[in-house]
Amino acid sequence: MSSKENVVIIGNLKMNGSLVFYDSYLKKLKESLSNLRQVTVGLCLPYPYLFLAERLLKQSKIKWGSQNVGKFSHGAHTGEVSSEMLKDFSSTYVIIGHSERNTAYCESEENIADKFKMVKEWGMTPVLCVGETLIEREAGIMESVVQSQIKAVVSKYGADIFSDSIVAYEPIWAIGTDTAASPEQTNHMCNFIRKTIKKDSSQQVSNVKIIYGGSVNQKNTVQLFGLESVDGGLIGRSSLSTDEFTSICNLADSLSN
Ligand code: PGA
Repeated sequence: MSSKENVVIIGNLKMNGSLVFYDSYLKKLKESLSNLRQVTVGLCLPYPYLFLAERLLKQSKIKWGSQNVGKFSHGAHTGEVSSEMLKDFSSTYVIIGHSERNTAYCESEENIADKFKMVKEWGMTPVLCVGETLIEREAGIMESVVQSQIKAVVSKYGADIFSDSIVAYEPIWAIGTDTAASPEQTNHMCNFIRKTIKKDSSQQVSNVKIIYGGSVNQKNTVQLFGLESVDGGLIGRSSLSTDEFTSICNLADSLSN
């Protein structure tokens, strides 16, 4: 296991919490994560609580952001939230193409590419989710599935757009279950994603992080984030408990020793 630098741990709070919950949650994390040395922490919250994150986390090392964004800049798009609006609350991270949105809201690959571009234009960091279903894995086509998800962005905007962005390998079968991908599966797919992006770029794509998401908890953190190919994680359920999330961040930080 190699010593790791610049690991990023992002909590995906999904549609959970309330004003009372986030008030206490953010204050607790600000305190409990104040001594991290190397790890960067982000929290992707439901939109209504971004103002609270800005208010409570401003003087901390924790960054925040959202779980989705509209693909247009403004106008007649009822129910959408623009990148500019997210910027108004000093957001850093924007999750794009999460499988829960793709399935429930029929997110198209073109929309995902446009959202990615818009987030970059506004100086924020897209966290692009890619990953295969169980049927696709069993059929042995996980590489081509993930490749086509990345190509959707590359073919429209070029691979160089991946500089300063994050790709989260999230196998759909591992999300919300108790079965994370194995270290071998994770290592293989994270390396594959990195190669796929590099292959298409005209120049060296700089600072693209490949992270893993899907049933991460404090027991598998070291195994998964200790892999050389993995730059951190996207944490769903385990980010809801301040104790468990703090412990994951501390374990990831200890990898930088
Ligand atoms: P999980 O969710 O950690 O609860 O599996 C991860 C995600 O959906 O990003």
